[in-house]
Amino acid sequence: MRFDTPATANPIDQLKVIGQPVDRIDGPMKTSGTAPYAYERHDAAPGAAYGYVLGAAIAKGRIASIDQRLAKSAPGVIAIVTAENAGKLGKGSFNTARLLGGPLVEHYHQAIALVVAETFEQARAAAQLLEVSYVAAEGAFDLAAERSSGKKTVDRDNKVGDFASAFAGAEVRLDQTYSTPDQSHAMMEPHATTAAWRGDKLSVWTSNQMIDWTTTDLAATLGIPKDSIHLMSPYIGGGFGAKLFLRADTVLAAIGARIARRPVKVALQRPIVANNTVHRPATIQRIRLGAAKDGRLTAIGHESWSGNLVNGKPENAVQQTQFLYAAAHRLTGTRLAVLDLPEGNAMRAPGEAPGLMALEIAMDEMAERLGIDPIEFRVLNDTQVDPANPSRRFSERRLIECMRTGAKAFGWSQRSARPALRREGRHWLGIGTAVGFRNNLVTKSGARARLDPRGVVTVETDMTDIGTGSYTIIAQTAAEMMGVPLERVVVRLGDSSFPVSAGSGGQWGANCSTAGVYAACVKLREAVVQRAGLPADASFADGMVRGGGRSLPLSEVAGADGLVVEDTIEFAELSKLYQQSTFGAHFVEVAVDAYTAEVRVRRMLAVCASGRILNPKSARSQVIGAMTMGVGGALMEELAVDKRLGFFVNHDLAGYEVPVHADIPHQEVIFLDETDAMSSPMKAKGVGELGLCGVGAAIANAVYNATGVRVRDYPITLDKLL
Ligand code: MOS
Repeated sequence: MRFDTPATANPIDQLKVIGQPVDRIDGPMKTSGTAPYAYERHDAAPGAAYGYVLGAAIAKGRIASIDQRLAKSAPGVIAIVTAENAGKLGKGSFNTARLLGGPLVEHYHQAIALVVAETFEQARAAAQLLEVSYVAAEGAFDLAAERSSGKKTVDRDNKVGDFASAFAGAEVRLDQTYSTPDQSHAMMEPHATTAAWRGDKLSVWTSNQMIDWTTTDLAATLGIPKDSIHLMSPYIGGGFGAKLFLRADTVLAAIGARIARRPVKVALQRPIVANNTVHRPATIQRIRLGAAKDGRLTAIGHESWSGNLVNGKPENAVQQTQFLYAAAHRLTGTRLAVLDLPEGNAMRAPGEAPGLMALEIAMDEMAERLGIDPIEFRVLNDTQVDPANPSRRFSERRLIECMRTGAKAFGWSQRSARPALRREGRHWLGIGTAVGFRNNLVTKSGARARLDPRGVVTVETDMTDIGTGSYTIIAQTAAEMMGVPLERVVVRLGDSSFPVSAGSGGQWGANCSTAGVYAACVKLREAVVQRAGLPADASFADGMVRGGGRSLPLSEVAGADGLVVEDTIEFAELSKLYQQSTFGAHFVEVAVDAYTAEVRVRRMLAVCASGRILNPKSARSQVIGAMTMGVGGALMEELAVDKRLGFFVNHDLAGYEVPVHADIPHQEVIFLDETDAMSSPMKAKGVGELGLCGVGAAIANAVYNATGVRVRDYPITLDKLL
């Protein structure tokens, strides 16, 4: 099905099942520990041996030799995989560094060996006996130093009007620099794979967000046909972008299983995840705002520096600045420095999450400079068109309504415009706001739908559920479309033998994957109508199909062999004609201890305008999870860089702090009642990343309001407030 004209009325609009706060179908399995994760597939791969990954102990250079003698004779050892015996490895299209290093080492903890043994403990013990000698090379590890060194960085600029003159001539100006640190996804389930060969066919149980990308890259890496790989990822313990691509666990489990001639499991042990895999790269962002005294922005400049390995990409922290506020003269640009740290890549709301952490503090600062309320300042500079291309409107943009609704619900009027005025006992109290913005991406998505003789509808798609609720909203979509109760829908996900879906990334998963299921169900309805000989406008409800004065149970129409169809939704020009984005407003109250400067978040509110909310319960869970992540980003999370040796020092959950329950107060989420006819037949958009966008700055602005101390360097730890 091509989606190329705005959505009109369709069966989803009935909202009998869609739009209901249905419990997660996989919830009981996940919370009771019975959802089978990749590392636990003992049933599927009996007798599996255990692989242990050895990561490089230098950041850059080469391996001179690996003495394997002691390790080979250690108890239980079956095989040792290194670049020497792994065979010729190709390269997939998503990884910057190779997933098995040697002799060249490209980053710290790059995998350089896999020890396969009878037990995990034996593999781990033997890995310590590998004697590796390295020849280390000089590397660059310090983003700030690279930025100020004058060395050429890769620049990409976007210009509208004449920023330099407009900024120079502005009545009120702000020129500030902000920084965000390297961050780790820190998902609950580490990357893990169980691999088994049967002849030249490879079965892989793994934990991955994008089944088709990863199957393609695994085939390219191993140099085998894609259709000889069966890759399965039905249950995932979180991803946040860390599992978008093929990683070392999968490649090494496959090679290890081939060499050991038996199934092999590999989990990336928690202490190597941060350096072995990917992270959100640190940014340094310079923001220049020019305004007239009446508060109208005339010039917006936002440049972001980040680092990455050679051929890596910049963190696009200026993405939202291209769309968020009006101003005739604009400059946005990314600058990329080559660093020899581990590879930087997508983490929840890549671009906007760190970008808004800077931009939305700058907006707070500018509002104060102008003497205008921060919300009124943003309202004044709202735009309903793409500022770079005024003929392109936003499909839906209710940013002002988000701010106004939130201000009312949160009690914004209690805020003191002057900072450091509200005191309660030993605490300074403050309120802050920031807006959220994240683009809405659409990408094609397929599904298979089957009606069986029991009247049960089974949906199969390679879409994944990373803890987000995909199983549930897909079941709701099929139930709504086919007029059957939720209990009569079976959803099967995360399998490379199913039709290729949009996958879980970029907050496009909910809208696109359900739109693909919608398309398949439209076809299934047609097949039912045709087989039953009913008129085309037959209706589906209560497990029956009705039309032309007849009424038949779906089970009867299905017949003995059932009906099965497949379709893919494809998105055409609409997404180019209209700018599709999602919007939010965050409100935060903090208390800052006057003596220790400890920051406690007291209340949080998010208001989101994000198209149709398919399931308000799972959507709310996504947003409160994102708000929680935002608290981490504002106050705790930072991968500390060892700038001499080039690695992240605090590479486990003891050293990399994330919020715990005690850090999280009352959270509220309001969804504006919205449908977006340009997004898909579902009229939905994403919320999973939107929920994070702006949270950090809202907290930073609340801390400023409480204390009068403006921190522009995240995380806002207490030493920066004293
Ligand atoms: Mo997302 S960072 O595209 O999983």
